[in-house]
Amino acid sequence: MRFKLIVTSIFLLSIVVLQAQKYENLALTPPMGWNSWNHFACEINEDIIREMADAMVATGMMDAGYEYINIDDCWHGERDSLGFIQPDPKRFPNGMKALADYVHSKGLKLGIYSDAGWKTCGSRPGSRGYEFQDAQQYARWGIDYLKYDWCNTEKLNANGAYLTMRDALYAAGRPIVFSICEWGDNQPWEWAEPIGHLWRTTGDIYNCFDCVYDHGTWNSWGVLQIIDLRNNKELRKHAGPGHWNDPDMMEVGNGMTLNEDRAHFSMWCMLAAPLIAGNDLRNMAKETVSILTNPGAIAINQDLLGIQGYKHGMINQLDIWVKPLQNGEFAVCFLNRGINEVDLIFNWAENPINDELSGKKADFVAEKFNLWNVWENKSMGDTQKPLKAKLAGHDVLMLRLTK
Ligand code: GLA
Repeated sequence: MRFKLIVTSIFLLSIVVLQAQKYENLALTPPMGWNSWNHFACEINEDIIREMADAMVATGMMDAGYEYINIDDCWHGERDSLGFIQPDPKRFPNGMKALADYVHSKGLKLGIYSDAGWKTCGSRPGSRGYEFQDAQQYARWGIDYLKYDWCNTEKLNANGAYLTMRDALYAAGRPIVFSICEWGDNQPWEWAEPIGHLWRTTGDIYNCFDCVYDHGTWNSWGVLQIIDLRNNKELRKHAGPGHWNDPDMMEVGNGMTLNEDRAHFSMWCMLAAPLIAGNDLRNMAKETVSILTNPGAIAINQDLLGIQGYKHGMINQLDIWVKPLQNGEFAVCFLNRGINEVDLIFNWAENPINDELSGKKADFVAEKFNLWNVWENKSMGDTQKPLKAKLAGHDVLMLRLTK
């Protein structure tokens, strides 16, 4: 009898392991949501998370497409006597199930955070050795998204560690978006497509447009630095529906100037990046709301082809970025990297688009496109005349080219 039971268990387990895969049909466009880390760091509790869900609805962000409310580091308490992780009873007295129920009642989804090592980056219990139990616990709570960090992972193999958690999530039986956060250290774009739905490509973002912040043993990066670090041809070929390069969560509304926030948001849209807001949604200036909810910019990010944009070229201190869109359309974004205003003159006829990766082309001599200014929500003529515009420092001109 006992022998039969063991054989059956081994058989069932091997089916689960053999069939383990990531959950398909999730994140078919870049995930949109909010995460607690950039604004609150470790100072989080269930009231803040609930209020953020309320604000996501009240500000119109949910209607604009934002879906996930993600709890980052420091929610953890201890493991119970069986090894199941519990939330910090002081910060989350009603527990995660109640919080997930609340977030779901608003029509939103709840995300959580763990780490492949012994401890998280904020020194809370990590998942190493507890992967299947943690995944089971998240599934029981009704979690929809897991960000899985990479602190305290000495001697672990990244591919293997993320694969273990993927299998654990699959075995737990609840579709959960799996966000790989190992900062690009182990080239996840080369191995993570069958494992996760998004992977960080760089170290942490810092709330500035053009700076590097030195923490002593590591750096965090301004918006321009993140754009320059790894958004190249090598990486963009790995992005697409269900598997995205993640240049980190946004700092929109956390203190940069309006131009800088607009440029930051536009570039995350051009890069088909996950749009995870990182500000306090309860206290937003109306300008911040209008950046985060701009329908034209979001449509470029969420385009169903899921092609990551690329740098087409430069004129003076301006970057020119191109993102092929559905129906033969394109987004073109001029990014002023400098602090001074620039006069832009751009002759379309001399600048055909030819994206070797997607095969999308535009020959502006043979074909006319209309120009739609995304931020001013107005037409700017067509590609038959050179484009003339003034661009403020650290600002963008983002156009949608339609036929
Ligand atoms: C790492 C991650 C951040 C954040 C912190 C939490 O630095 O890259 O995004 O999750 O850990 O401690």
